[in-house]
Amino acid sequence: MNHLVAPSILSADFANIQRDVEMINKSEADWFHVDIMDGMFVPNISFGFPVIKAIKKHATKPLDVHLMIQDPDRYLQTFKDAGADILSVHLEACPHLHRTIQGIKALGMKAGVAINPHTSISHLADVIDEIDLVCMMSVNPGFGGQKFIENTYRKIASLKELIRATKSSALIEIDGGVDLNNYKKLIETGANVLVAGNTVFSSADPSKTIAKLKKI
Ligand code: DX5
Ligand code: ZN
Repeated sequence: MNHLVAPSILSADFANIQRDVEMINKSEADWFHVDIMDGMFVPNISFGFPVIKAIKKHATKPLDVHLMIQDPDRYLQTFKDAGADILSVHLEACPHLHRTIQGIKALGMKAGVAINPHTSISHLADVIDEIDLVCMMSVNPGFGGQKFIENTYRKIASLKELIRATKSSALIEIDGGVDLNNYKKLIETGANVLVAGNTVFSSADPSKTIAKLKKI
């Protein structure tokens, strides 16, 4: 499959959110990546439901919502109502991950599982055939603009092997530190979805940068 690009709205200009959403609508981007941080699971707070709804109102592409929150089961319905199309929860935040995944799918959303850089791929073995997406963190979650962790390539190869062996249809999404220098190697190693915040929004021409990230 051709890889997908999901600009991370965390790096957008929140005083001009409609402008930035429309830039993504008109660009070659595939999804909106929407980061939710609770100040507990990660040491930062991003934004909540009113902002997701505001993005959804203008977005013409799917909302890929990445929850960096404790006990996400409390809010699955609310994220659905706010406009999430794909909902990813952190493996490290879900003691009953299998149940959480079923809950997301029962609400009609695609289910994703996000894993921190220290979490081994082996922890996904018993849910990989239940999910649509693995959001592999290539930085420690909590902030945009961090340095890419090189060990990610090894983890992509290992996840790709697990997906092949189990005939899972899960996509491999890479989140954190993706830039114009590493995106090609990520795709070659097996990434299907590239999240990019700082690389897109700190560039002189965000739409052109998205187009570059789409080129193989
Ligand atoms: C980090 C978030 C990422 C972040 C990526 O905790 O999950 O989605 O926005 O930003 P960049 O591409 O700037 O590393
Ligand atoms: Zn994210």
